[in-house]
Amino acid sequence: MQRLVIEGENKLTGELVCHGAKNAALPLLAGCVLAKGETALHNCPRLSDVFAACRILSCLGCDCKREADSVLVNTDGLLHFDVPDDLMREMRSSIVFLGAILGRLGKCKLSFPGGCELGPRPIDMHISALKKMGVQINEEHGVLDCSVPSGLVGTNITFSFPSVGATENVILAAATAKGTTVIHNAAREPEITDLANFLNCCGARIANAGESTIVIEGVKELHGCEYSVMPDRIVTATYMSAAAITGGELNITKVRTSDIEAVIPVFEQMGCSVYTYNDNVYINARHGLKAVKTIRTMPYPGFPTDAQATTMAALCKANGTSVIVENIFENRYRQVDELVRMGAKIKTEGKVAIIDGVKRLYGANVRATDLRGGASLVILALAAEGKTEISDIHLIDRGYEMIEKSLSSVGAKIKRV
Ligand code: UD1
Repeated sequence: MQRLVIEGENKLTGELVCHGAKNAALPLLAGCVLAKGETALHNCPRLSDVFAACRILSCLGCDCKREADSVLVNTDGLLHFDVPDDLMREMRSSIVFLGAILGRLGKCKLSFPGGCELGPRPIDMHISALKKMGVQINEEHGVLDCSVPSGLVGTNITFSFPSVGATENVILAAATAKGTTVIHNAAREPEITDLANFLNCCGARIANAGESTIVIEGVKELHGCEYSVMPDRIVTATYMSAAAITGGELNITKVRTSDIEAVIPVFEQMGCSVYTYNDNVYINARHGLKAVKTIRTMPYPGFPTDAQATTMAALCKANGTSVIVENIFENRYRQVDELVRMGAKIKTEGKVAIIDGVKRLYGANVRATDLRGGASLVILALAAEGKTEISDIHLIDRGYEMIEKSLSSVGAKIKRV
């Protein structure tokens, strides 16, 4: 079992490159299923979730290989429509393959993505939207047996909540459906826009992605293309927290600064100087950290739930009391017990977390509880006295490309053992 070992209290200074976004790469890889011939996805991060998506493509019969920072997918051999249970369990977001496989093959069999690390993660919105598009679904013993005998048909879909995954599934299903699909109350996350831009590059006709009402005119078929995955806005926010908690100074490059507009003011309230120029974010936390009043996680363009845990870690060292309200997931404070082991003072009740900043944090043996919660332990350890050992780091590897390599390049003492 690998662990991360961190000797804290080193200021981070220098430049870090932001890698491609996990949450964009996964639906794009699912989207490759719809495209005839070969697709090249550049800036595709080396993450365990991306490897799992590639294994799903291989199981379906596609040829999927990596060349440097690109993944090449050829769908000429595509003939299977079932996703193995172990891959569904490994990565719950694999549910987004459902819309794509149905669009290409008219049937799909996969297991229910089951219980989850962030609390219940139902897929009712995905299912009812696809049913409206003509999909018949038989659910038995946790297996979803789906078929669409007369082909997918475009329709009007209104979500009760702007679910990212459900919006992606419907876009994928609608791209080659008969007629026009209109999604009301669609998710507006930049990863949705990236998916639409990619599919349009493959010949789809998707308008207004990034807005609440998305219009998809179904086309007969899609073809392969070359596309570059957008930068990871959550990795950027994580690096910003690393600079903040260590009183450091970082320039983060290859960032799309417009995607982090809700994150920057929080770091400014903490007392950091933040400047953006071209595809760079510069952050300087020389003057110590102040508490922030209230951070509320919200669907985009609000503050991202995925940046909640790492920002919480930075606030543990701020002067004063900060409040976080988690509005997206029911059980997203699992990192708190581990942070408290390291000297943090945090109380949670339901959606609310109250963080009393402390002057000193201590290294400890802790365990990653989920992807972003695991990253928050790394952030706290960077500012803790002594040595921290983090176990279950496979969860961190789901979303950060060799986190120890990038952080040690800017002065952190961190190694994988
Ligand atoms: C995606 C991201 C995840 C991020 C989240 C919110 C990927 C791979 N994952 O997850 O990192 O934290 O968006 O920005 O892109 N819900 C239902 N029924 C449904 C679908 C969702 O009740 O059918 C609820 C969920 O339980 C949750 C909320 O809606 O409480 C948001 O979920 P959703 O936006 O769907 O998140 P994901 O797509 O799972």
